[in-house]
Amino acid sequence: MAKKMTITSIKKSKGQHPLVMITAYDAIFARLLEPSADMILVGDSLNMSFAGREDTLSATLSQMIYHTNAVANGAKNSFIICDMPFGTYTNKEDALKNSIKVFQESSADALKIEGGEDKAEIVSHLCSNGIAVCGHIGLLPQAFRSEGGYKVKGKTNEERDQLIIDAKAIERAGAFCMVIEGVKSDVAAEVAASVKIPVIGIGAGKDVDGQVLVFSDMLGLFEEFTPKFVKKYLDGASLVKEALKNYADEVKAREFPQDIHTY
Ligand code: KIV
Repeated sequence: MAKKMTITSIKKSKGQHPLVMITAYDAIFARLLEPSADMILVGDSLNMSFAGREDTLSATLSQMIYHTNAVANGAKNSFIICDMPFGTYTNKEDALKNSIKVFQESSADALKIEGGEDKAEIVSHLCSNGIAVCGHIGLLPQAFRSEGGYKVKGKTNEERDQLIIDAKAIERAGAFCMVIEGVKSDVAAEVAASVKIPVIGIGAGKDVDGQVLVFSDMLGLFEEFTPKFVKKYLDGASLVKEALKNYADEVKAREFPQDIHTY
């Protein structure tokens, strides 16, 4: 069994080897992906993939704690990051109170916070109070409604400059790594090179310090839409549907259960 990653080994991986991060929301999938992932992210994307909502904004703290515990039960040897949901870190006091709640009520190793320069003071407050923070810059899913959709970043010089400012601010604030989402690949590469902590990409090209994908996207289970940056490593939905149809057909034909399934 591989050794569980720590804040130190995650930071040290920069320039050594790319980090593999995958999301999980429950114990079954956490157990399955544990051997392949350096870090498991309990993303608030669960509000879409698991709960069937349109965006991540209505995810709650208790939902995130519940799923983080489920994932921890399935992947006892993994470094687990819990996403702080929308509205739970709008100021330093709330951010710390809510982060302490997550740390006390779950076995999360770290929390993830969306935002750059604008959230640096909050990240710094959490880090100086014993909370390990993973940043998240670039396309911010929690800004979906305020920005009127998912907007790829790094298309202008201003956006490029701001992303570098964001990454440096989050690093200075004490984060041990950060996610960079939906950013032009050349700009994401520049951002990764501008800081000493690992920058994990999603929709940000290959020249960063690791990759993260949502498990239900990469396994082809989420059929509603597939972003350009997702590679489907399995046609999960078709396989599951075929298995379910086989079961239904056999029940209707009285072919299941057979003697070997019978007491
Ligand atoms: O919620 C999530 O799954 C995420 C990833 C897309 C990075 O934040």
